Amino acid sequence: MHDSRETSARHAFVTGYPVKHSRSPLIHGYWLEALGLAGSYTRQEISPENFAGFISRLKSGESGFIGGNVTIPHKETAFRLADRPDALSEELGASNTLWLEDGALCATNTDGYGFLANLDAAAPGWDKTDRAVVLGAGGASRAIIQAVRDRGVGEIHVVNRTLGRAQELADRFGPKVHAHGLAALAEVSKGAGLFVNTTSLGMDGEPAPDFDFSPLAAGAVVTDIVYVPLVTPILRQAAEQGFATVDGLGMLLHQAAPGFEKWFGTRPVVDAHLRNLILADM
Ligand code: ATR
Repeated sequence: MHDSRETSARHAFVTGYPVKHSRSPLIHGYWLEALGLAGSYTRQEISPENFAGFISRLKSGESGFIGGNVTIPHKETAFRLADRPDALSEELGASNTLWLEDGALCATNTDGYGFLANLDAAAPGWDKTDRAVVLGAGGASRAIIQAVRDRGVGEIHVVNRTLGRAQELADRFGPKVHAHGLAALAEVSKGAGLFVNTTSLGMDGEPAPDFDFSPLAAGAVVTDIVYVPLVTPILRQAAEQGFATVDGLGMLLHQAAPGFEKWFGTRPVVDAHLRNLILADM
């Protein structure tokens, strides 16, 4: 008998350099199995010098992939090589999700979506605030600043050890985004309803700094995008001081969902089984 699932098997990838630590194959493998879909999602370790060739084989159909995820250090190059990057990628200058559509390579960035979906699920109502503080101005904080701005939060204060990097992000993301050095942290935290850590502070071999979260608004939410360990020093201190905390694992899980839908045609659900599966792998 003709098996329609066999003929429609689709293949997606995650590429990075290195890529062996990526947990994305576990996430997409779980969804493929749970939904009974024929297909695969595999790691493709591609060095920077081989990345353009990888993308051209993807575009020509020669690779057999219909798309995939892109991680460090390829996100900027993926954006540049895509035929149809969306507006989110354009503003960030980086893409983490690729798919073929009518022979064109389309690209988006789902990190911001993942960040918001995680907060929406774990701390509904968090977005009633008019003020957010984002600690750190590296690659990871960009998509978060964009997403929080697009959700409508009035003021976003980026606080970074190197002021110039925070200033670059303020210039990129417009008048709602303000740049500060670390010394301003307590001052700009006054009345903020959201505090986001995007740095490795307290996890880089140095002792964790003492954070005073008391200037935050009552009921403020503190979140960290780092999820190893699940409870970072910043989350532990925020919880001890009575604030609601949201760990970063949900961001990883939620950012995967839009790509899965593009490649395999079904929107997957982020559930407790999936979270436990990843936790068991940590
Ligand atoms: P990622 O892409 O994961 O965000 P990154 O680009 O290396 O990584 O950025 C790391 C962020 O953590 C930066 O904001 C960095 O501050 P600088 O821009 O001043 O380098 C911040 N960071 C890392 N270690 C830190 C420390 N010990 N104290 C303060 N900030 C730190």
